[in-house]
Amino acid sequence: MKIIADRQTLNHWMNGCAKEGERVGFVPTMGALHAGHLSLVREARKQCRRTIVSIFVNPTQFGPGEDFGHYPRTFEADRDLLEKAGCDAIFLPEVETIYPPGGQTVVAVEPLGSQLCGAARPGHFQGVATVVMILFNLVRPQVAYFGLKDYQQYTLIRQMVRDLAMPLEVVGVPTVRERDGLALSSRNRYLTEAERLQASALFRAMNRAQDHYRKGESDPRQLEQSAREVLLESGIDRIDYVAVREAETLQERECIETPPVILIAVRVGKARLIDNMVLSLY
Ligand code: PAF
Repeated sequence: MKIIADRQTLNHWMNGCAKEGERVGFVPTMGALHAGHLSLVREARKQCRRTIVSIFVNPTQFGPGEDFGHYPRTFEADRDLLEKAGCDAIFLPEVETIYPPGGQTVVAVEPLGSQLCGAARPGHFQGVATVVMILFNLVRPQVAYFGLKDYQQYTLIRQMVRDLAMPLEVVGVPTVRERDGLALSSRNRYLTEAERLQASALFRAMNRAQDHYRKGESDPRQLEQSAREVLLESGIDRIDYVAVREAETLQERECIETPPVILIAVRVGKARLIDNMVLSLY
C-alpha cells in the first residue's frame, strides 16, 4: 500500500492507473477509522480495480469552539486497518497541500448547506463541499464512496456533483451499527459508558417514527414528535433537530408523498451525535 503526501506523487500514481485503464474508487475520510469506513473500502474494492483513501482532518469544516484540535488522529492504526482491508493507496496531505496560500475560492451548496446540521454548524458544509471538490480534482476518481450515516453530507455532495457537472459517480454506503443500533462514529469515543447507553435511544427514536409511518401516519410533524418523545424519555434533552424530510432532496414537506427520511442531531455529553433512517412502508 502506497502512502502519498504530495500532489505530484498522487498525480503520478493516478496517471499510472489511467494508463492501465484501471477504475479508481475513492474514499475521503478524516481518519480515526472504524468498521463504517472499512465498509466503504470494501464497497470500493468490489466495484473498482484500485482503491485510494484520503485521511485529512479538514480545518475549514470545524467552527470556532468545535473539536478540530481534539479530533482523534490515529494514523498508525488507520494505516494497519487499510492495509488489511486491501486498500491500494492512502493520500495523507498536509494542510498546505490542500489549501496552498493565497486561495480565495469556496464551494457553497445552498440552501441545503445552511439547513439541519448547517444551521447548528455555520460554515460546516461550505468547508466540506470545498475540501471534497479539491480532493476530487486532485484524485480524479471514477467513483467516490460516502457513508449514509452523514446523510445530509451525502445529499449535498451528490447535489454539488450534479450542479457542477463533475465527471464521477457518488455512491452512498449503508450505516454500520452496533448491536443496540448506535451508528458507528469516530465521535462515539467521546462518550462515557452511561452516555453510550443513552445514545442507543437515537435508533429507538427513529424506529418509533418508522412504526408510526407504517401504521399510516403521514404528517411529518407527528412523526418527528414520536421520535422526540423517545429521546426525551431517555434523558436526551439537548436536541439540535429531529426532522422528517423528503429522502431524495431533503426538502421540507407538509405531508409525506415520496419516501421520507428522519434525521436526528443531539448532544450527549461532549459528543454531537447524528443519525438517520429512510422510512419505508414494508
Ligand atoms: O465525512 C467526513 O469524514 C468528512 O466530512 C469528509 C467527507 C472526509 C470531508 O472532510
